[in-house]
Amino acid sequence: GQISRWHTFTSQQAINEATLQRILALAEEAIAARGAFTIVLAGGNTPKQVYELLRHAKADWSKWHVYHNDDRCLPADHPERNSLMARQAWLDHVAIPADQIHDIPAERGPVEGAAAYAKTLQGLGEFDLVLLGLGEDGHTASLFPGHTWDDSVDAFPVYNSPKPPAERVSISARRLSHTRAVIFLVTGAGKQEAVNNWRSGVAIPATVIKPANGVDVYVFGVALN
Ligand code: 6PG
Repeated sequence: GQISRWHTFTSQQAINEATLQRILALAEEAIAARGAFTIVLAGGNTPKQVYELLRHAKADWSKWHVYHNDDRCLPADHPERNSLMARQAWLDHVAIPADQIHDIPAERGPVEGAAAYAKTLQGLGEFDLVLLGLGEDGHTASLFPGHTWDDSVDAFPVYNSPKPPAERVSISARRLSHTRAVIFLVTGAGKQEAVNNWRSGVAIPATVIKPANGVDVYVFGVALN
């Protein structure tokens, strides 16, 4: 099963700051040990403030390699693209080499986008850190309840997401679990039921992420019953 460690914070600022410090610490460790830091970003609204803090952080950006856990099949410059959000909040403002920022080419459509991203991920070892969000229905990345996910590939197409837009590309659960660390960022009362299910052992998509070292769940505004 999944090993999960739960951390509650008492303000938005506290969870943002703790996430920032954890990311920077993992980056330093990875760069000292292996000369590179490989991070997979979460989409949605929750991580945006952390990205805005990273924009002003001091780090050895030349050693960072950035991926996305999912993206929406919309034009690359569409305001709902996860890759655009991350660029505007953070990546465009720091010195990460352009060829180390790996957007999902979701604008090419789910099939072609997933195939291209699977190629991008090919031969890459363990990620250092995967950031994930949690949807109100328990989804994470674009792994939605009731869908069947293709775990035979590193990235797969989604055609009927209940959260718009319907078409997406997502990294697979198996590939997301091939990582040294995972942080789930979970804020707001809307996530309460999903958290209750998760903690009481009801299967939700978030519980299929099972890295060997377990996952850390950072929570604000949700009670740990
Ligand atoms: C996306 C996501 C998705 C997100 C959750 C939580 O593209 O929408 O990657 O998995 O992380 O839906 O979203 P919020 O942080 O906006 O609640």
